[in-house]
Amino acid sequence: MKVVLNSRGAARLLARHLWVWENGVQLLPDTPGIYPVYGPRGLLGWGLVNPKSLIQVRIFHFGATDDPYTALWANLERALSFRRNLYEKEPAGGLRLVHAEGDLLPGLVIDSYARHLVVQAHAAAWEPLLGELALRLESQLSPAGILAKHDAPVRAREGLEQYQRTLAGRIPDGVVVREGEVRYRVGLHAGQKTGAFLDQRENRLLLETYLEGRGFQRGLDVFSYQGLFALHMARHIAEVEAVDSSAPALQVARENAALNGLENLRFTEANAFDLLRERQRAWERYDVIVLDPPAFAARKADRERALAAYKEVNLRALKLIAPGGLLVTSSCSHHVAEADFYAMLTAAAADAHRIVRLREQRGQGADHPVLLTVPETRYLKLALLEVLA
Ligand SMILES: C[S@@+](CC[C@H](N)C(=O)[O-])C[C@H]1O[C@@H](n2cnc3c(N)ncnc32)[C@H](O)[C@@H]1O
Repeated sequence: MKVVLNSRGAARLLARHLWVWENGVQLLPDTPGIYPVYGPRGLLGWGLVNPKSLIQVRIFHFGATDDPYTALWANLERALSFRRNLYEKEPAGGLRLVHAEGDLLPGLVIDSYARHLVVQAHAAAWEPLLGELALRLESQLSPAGILAKHDAPVRAREGLEQYQRTLAGRIPDGVVVREGEVRYRVGLHAGQKTGAFLDQRENRLLLETYLEGRGFQRGLDVFSYQGLFALHMARHIAEVEAVDSSAPALQVARENAALNGLENLRFTEANAFDLLRERQRAWERYDVIVLDPPAFAARKADRERALAAYKEVNLRALKLIAPGGLLVTSSCSHHVAEADFYAMLTAAAADAHRIVRLREQRGQGADHPVLLTVPETRYLKLALLEVLA
């Protein structure tokens, strides 16, 4: 059995994208699995196939191979080998071990929290391979436990069952993870994503270097989730407020503050749009504001609306920053390109009548690698801005 693509599908793979949609496919096996993928001129590579998915083919190997499984596991080996140093150096840390397409392991995410691995496989062909995946992870990394956290709504769209299952070892309800000098709790069975937003790990650590010794008085962490930016901020800023619309996330943020012995944090459950508008009306001033909203553009069609929402929160935040203060602002929507994000920030600075200096232009951490020819893998944009006047 094999996949046959039309010239449109083949052109995508020749340009080294990994995905083929229904309109690129001529012939497809009717059961999910791993199959050779042919174009009009012969074999193009091997892919994970799911006829029920919008993305019907996800390539993990270009060209011929005698054994596609060996090729697939070689990609896992490569993903683990470049993180091995960090994994071993920081046994209590959080780290992304496998970043799906960015590691040529389409649809597969594996995060490590103090050596408890959380697996999320969103491509059907992984399902029968989970046992072998767990064995390989165990022999390579000796983790404390491995959890398949397969209850994300996105699995339903792929025709996959939703469940959680311990694949190896022991998975407690939660673990404490270290990030620099901060410690935070991750609920392994609950919470958004695999439990925490590791893509901002390096950026949270970087922010501390901008805060140290500055004597800043007031900080605001908007869209704070379990308060991770706020915890790093509270080590250097006199008073920090963490804002999120999720009460359970803020409850964990409160516990995290206690875990770190930080008493200068407060927590507000609110819609960020309303809160920023109210604070602006009340003429409040902050030295540091962090904006880390969810992906406002889940689909391409949402792009314009998302840019308007990003502009609104950034404009309000810029108006709230005291001269000499910092705005750390990000977008995790891959449908919003980097150039559009910076154009939006430029327009917000102009409309706020502020002189804003771009100090850092960053993205996701190095454990979330980007494939240049798969723009979807480059999703996080983060700007660290200094508001001069
Ligand atoms: C990308 S996460 C933030 C991650 C966090 N900064 C970190 O470093 O772990 C986005 C957060 O925004 C929250 N959120 C979504 N819509 C919101 C809204 N309108 N107002 C406030 N919070 C919102 C979600 O509950 C989620 O916790």
